[in-house]
Amino acid sequence: MTAHWETLRARHRDHAHRSILSLFNADTDRAAGFSAQMGSLRLDYSKTNIDARTRAALIALCDAADVAGRREAMFTGRPINETEGRAVLHTALRNLDGGPVMVDGTDVMPGVIDTLARMRAYAREVRGGAITDVVNIGIGGSDLGPAMATQALSPYHDGPRCHFVSNVDGAHISDTLRGLDAKTTLVIVASKTFSTIETMTNARTARAWMAHHGGDAGAQFAAVSTARDKTAAFGIPPERVFGFDDWVGGRYSVWGPIGLSLMIAIGPRAFDAFLRGAQAMDRHFRAADWSDNLPVMLALVGIWHNQVCGHATRAVLPYDQRLAQLPAYLQQLEMESNGKRVAMDGQALTLASGPVVWGAPGTNGQHAFYQLIHQGTRVIPCEFMVAASGHEPDLAHHHQLLIANCLAQSEALMRGRSIDAARVLMAEAGLSGPELERQAQHRVFPGNRPSITLAYPLLDPFMLGQIVALYEHRVFVEGVILGINSFDQWGVELGKELATSLQPVVEGAEPATGKDGSTAALIDFIHRHR
Ligand code: F6P
Repeated sequence: MTAHWETLRARHRDHAHRSILSLFNADTDRAAGFSAQMGSLRLDYSKTNIDARTRAALIALCDAADVAGRREAMFTGRPINETEGRAVLHTALRNLDGGPVMVDGTDVMPGVIDTLARMRAYAREVRGGAITDVVNIGIGGSDLGPAMATQALSPYHDGPRCHFVSNVDGAHISDTLRGLDAKTTLVIVASKTFSTIETMTNARTARAWMAHHGGDAGAQFAAVSTARDKTAAFGIPPERVFGFDDWVGGRYSVWGPIGLSLMIAIGPRAFDAFLRGAQAMDRHFRAADWSDNLPVMLALVGIWHNQVCGHATRAVLPYDQRLAQLPAYLQQLEMESNGKRVAMDGQALTLASGPVVWGAPGTNGQHAFYQLIHQGTRVIPCEFMVAASGHEPDLAHHHQLLIANCLAQSEALMRGRSIDAARVLMAEAGLSGPELERQAQHRVFPGNRPSITLAYPLLDPFMLGQIVALYEHRVFVEGVILGINSFDQWGVELGKELATSLQPVVEGAEPATGKDGSTAALIDFIHRHR
């Protein structure tokens, strides 16, 4: 592995200042040669500094890290989540007609199909009944996936309205329940463990609200969890509990029962299309050659920018308003998965861990943070997303404008504007002498800033399934190349433990003994000001 990283570092060193535009001048087919397509989903990574030799060096990482072997281990149910001794089989949830998947000698597919059939039947019952509103109570993976996908697929909504409550801040549940009719609201408590404090606190508050406002919590609560004993203890009868197994990680769980609220919103048929899109991506990921393989190429571009070039963040910029929650979804998917300090064997990582992922939809971001992306001193690789068409045929002119903006941004990042071009602009504006020079500097864009673009015909359920599965597999490939376990999340535990011990201190039932000076002073401030 070390030699491969050395080769890549040398390529970065030797070409760091090469202009990306010059690569297009030297190769008129660059756009085609540095794109990969799966069905009608296109990944264009030609506006990066990756050339054929760099790509070959990146691809060599896949063989050196045995991505193929790890990929088969994942799809075939081996316990690749080694720190928790678990298989990683979110792919089984969308393996609709793909044959058996064995875990410890047992085929898990009959259980998956049976739960999916129960979800469909329940979703049809809810959609056909008197329920007007569904409130999904969950956090992290039990919230971000269904919330993101429900917004993304809003043109396909023909069921009850869906609301999502995640934060333990009482403002969230209070604002959500205000205005809802307790008699026609269904609450879905979504928690893999059914012990997450935020979710259970919100679930109890929702139950009290329902009882107080004439609803029937006995009939209007459903649960999604691996912990059937705990759902029973909470009082939700087994026929309204949709279980899954510990081989589905929280941030990979939207494909199964955690997606129940989404299924109720868009209906079982559209939900099936969402699963089929993901299944198509699974098949592509398993079969395509490395250079044609979208998840692999997306991962290698990520590795190039983060671990080789040293760009610590990446911006996800969907020119698709309905993907507004995708950056937050990807933050959990990527940062909880690959934000690790040690390799699988417990040794400290010698490479940077996964990048900081952030972003917001275009064109809004253009009027907020793009200034820094264009002229700030740090390079931020950008990941644009755009559909050929929107769902509003009457507003096609909006969509043309949206596309033009998306393409303009990636072009501007690559081309930049030289000092000479800035001088011409200033002269045209009537400036001259020292004032022209001073002003011109502020109009310079360094350019040569890398970006990739994902383009697709329309954001429908099938396409959304493909896109989300694409990112899941990207995270997997990056994790394998870094040698880390992408499927545990020990880094969230310490804060949870301290919050539990601080709760009685905040309540005033215990003293702040043993706390650091800052924490003790803040507690004192809060006690004096509430
Ligand atoms: O705190 C992190 C986490 O464990 C995530 O991995 C998970 O998605 C989230 O909490 C919610 O967990 P649960 O579904 O068990 O409530």
